[in-house]
Amino acid sequence: MFTWRRQFSTAATLLKTAAMAPSQPTTSFQVFRDVPPLRTLRRQILESNRTVGLVPTMGALHEGHLSLIRQAASENTDVVVSIFVNPTQFGVNEDLSSYPRTWDSDVAKLEQLNAELTAHNTHGRITAVLAPTAQVMYPTLPPSSEIDGDGSFVTITPISRKLEGASRPVFFRGVATVCMKLFNIVGAERAYFGQKDVQQTVVIKRMVKDFHVDTEIKIGPTVREADGLAMSSRNVYLGKRRREVGLVLYRALRAAAEQYHAHGKLQRSQILEAAERVTKEVIAEQRGLAPAERALFEVDYISLADPDTLDELEVVDPSKGAILSGAIKMAPLEESRAGEDCGLGEGKVPVRLIDNLIFAPRV
Ligand code: PAF
Repeated sequence: MFTWRRQFSTAATLLKTAAMAPSQPTTSFQVFRDVPPLRTLRRQILESNRTVGLVPTMGALHEGHLSLIRQAASENTDVVVSIFVNPTQFGVNEDLSSYPRTWDSDVAKLEQLNAELTAHNTHGRITAVLAPTAQVMYPTLPPSSEIDGDGSFVTITPISRKLEGASRPVFFRGVATVCMKLFNIVGAERAYFGQKDVQQTVVIKRMVKDFHVDTEIKIGPTVREADGLAMSSRNVYLGKRRREVGLVLYRALRAAAEQYHAHGKLQRSQILEAAERVTKEVIAEQRGLAPAERALFEVDYISLADPDTLDELEVVDPSKGAILSGAIKMAPLEESRAGEDCGLGEGKVPVRLIDNLIFAPRV
């Protein structure tokens, strides 16, 4: 059986020979900017009967990402973390440049996590970080974010048009395309995604099935802050006031889920009206406050959908379960108070919050 201690010197040798492109040496993993050196490492890992778990990220790593990496390290000998802010999943009106980029702290977190994995004698380690340039990921054309833009894209319809896709029409095309590229580059046995982005997990699973991609998709649970807010790289833009009000989404979803779990309600209207009550109450409360006190938001959707097709359900079939999900748009603060913590961007960046709860199939 593979043990990390026994194989560590072999792994270190493999890494030295494989990382031939411009890379930044770190103490416990190598950073790859280009594809061929990573492929060399991948071949060597395969020949040593070891396995790779891929954790795709756009950086700005938080505990949600770290928990996926821990899961990947417990199920694989080698973990590859990709860090790439993928331009094609941002629409033309979405600000790609404002996405948080925190390379140094990301690397420090990964180093620390590898030390933790060693201390706990976990099966695997972070072996490589893939941080390619946009030119490497999109070698032929400058990547387009236009809906009818040219390029080599993977489109998974109709599920990509629903829910998040209705507000962000190029988002899942960009996600599916970049994940297909990452899966082709890394050739991982398993790839890890967080349940928080539930529609993304449905799209990726469908893509893997329909294109016969030989990578198993594993979903890790949503990781929450102490107050229940689902962790997201974008939460840094919220600030205290919008963050407190933004908790309304999780509260609304829990109120709806309670109708199903505790009261046995199966009808859409019975389940969703509980969520609507919560959001309407908070909207009314906030509108009644002065501009320097309130945080306004709009509900984009609250959905009760089939777990595979994402079709909206009129009635939940408990043997199939359902996905209860929602999105709200936190508006920029109208006025800030002196000394107030308004988050990165001083409260001026609109923030979209998404969250979900899964009704697992009952056997
Ligand atoms: O969830 C994310 O961070 C991104 O959508 C992903 C999967 C890394 C693709 O860019």
